Amino acid sequence: MTMDIYDTSRTTTQIVTDYHRAKEVQAFDDTKAGVKGLVDAGIVNIPRIFIRPPEELVEELTSHQTNFQVPVIDLDGVRGNKLEEIVDQVRAAAETWGFFQVVNHGIPLNVLEEMIEGIRKFNEQDVELKKEFYTRDRTRNVRFNSNFDLHYSRTANWRDTLTISALASTDLDPNEYPEVCRDAVREYIKNVTKLAETLFELLSLALGLKAEHLQEIGCPKEYTLLCHYYPSCPQPDLTLGASGHSDPSFLTILLQDQIGGLQVFHDNQWVGVQPIVGGLVVNIGDFLQVVSNDKFKSVNHRVVAGHVGPRVSVACFFMGHNAEIPKSYGPIKELTSEENPPIYRDFLASECFNKGYSTAVDDNSLLHQLKL
Ligand code: OGA
Ligand code: NI
Repeated sequence: MTMDIYDTSRTTTQIVTDYHRAKEVQAFDDTKAGVKGLVDAGIVNIPRIFIRPPEELVEELTSHQTNFQVPVIDLDGVRGNKLEEIVDQVRAAAETWGFFQVVNHGIPLNVLEEMIEGIRKFNEQDVELKKEFYTRDRTRNVRFNSNFDLHYSRTANWRDTLTISALASTDLDPNEYPEVCRDAVREYIKNVTKLAETLFELLSLALGLKAEHLQEIGCPKEYTLLCHYYPSCPQPDLTLGASGHSDPSFLTILLQDQIGGLQVFHDNQWVGVQPIVGGLVVNIGDFLQVVSNDKFKSVNHRVVAGHVGPRVSVACFFMGHNAEIPKSYGPIKELTSEENPPIYRDFLASECFNKGYSTAVDDNSLLHQLKL
């Protein structure tokens, strides 16, 4: 059935495939049941809209195993005698990996576990209840769908997502959260936004700025929670949970369960981010790379699909002033000089959302577009 994709006569095949693709994508979207709906229906072969192009599958064969590990930073003592040491670790991680994990960050384990459980319950509740949230309307603060970019991406990802956005000027009413996960979400947001403030202080100090700098320019102001559900996949080698991308945010804090599958591109290879009980993954987003004038790196990452699942993760994107109070950002003056001139133009955070989130690192990537 999928043989035409591997046909060597690419041009005609491509047109035919694309034609069917739009229809197949629409049919999938219309079910409003997401990837989980396919798995529940007992499919054995994944629909071709999820199958990655042959050249990508071939590239995969050349990737190799590695002993690298994303740095783990212990935040115990951050308000005391460990501050300087922690700032050094944050700087080193942000400059090289663009990723690190934090432990002893102050968020109680039960808050993390209940959040993961809440998102699992949301996805596993009666499909009719879930469908009430299914929409692509970006003005809705709480929305559920499969693949935010379903209608314009090349390959669909093996995941469903509940999105919860909080804008600067309006306090999101917790009554808008789905009932099954309402308390968990409220508690998690309270904690993760507080942790973000600490992280922005550490990142400011790591850049040689005063502790409040990133906070004062509004970095933790608006945030979006992407609560992902990656069902088990019958053919994990043919698709991905999330294709390679960098995040259109200042900072992303990611909570993941113990299944694993997140990979970071480092030193020319994909490195797995080992889940740590009670740990959180932190990564530098595109906006922070821009305002730091390339001192900090926003690094490509992805999620592989797996036979074992579901996997649940929650990515909290901190996006600065965005939709409601547009504010322009550019390389921070204190970080540029005659010898180190700005390499990016100013931008509005909202610019990046008109086309959806940035995806593959190519000529259309946000960083490339903002280069002077
Ligand atoms: C994201 C992301 C990783 C994960 O939402 O941008 O990279 O493990 N998520 O779900
Ligand atoms: Ni990401």
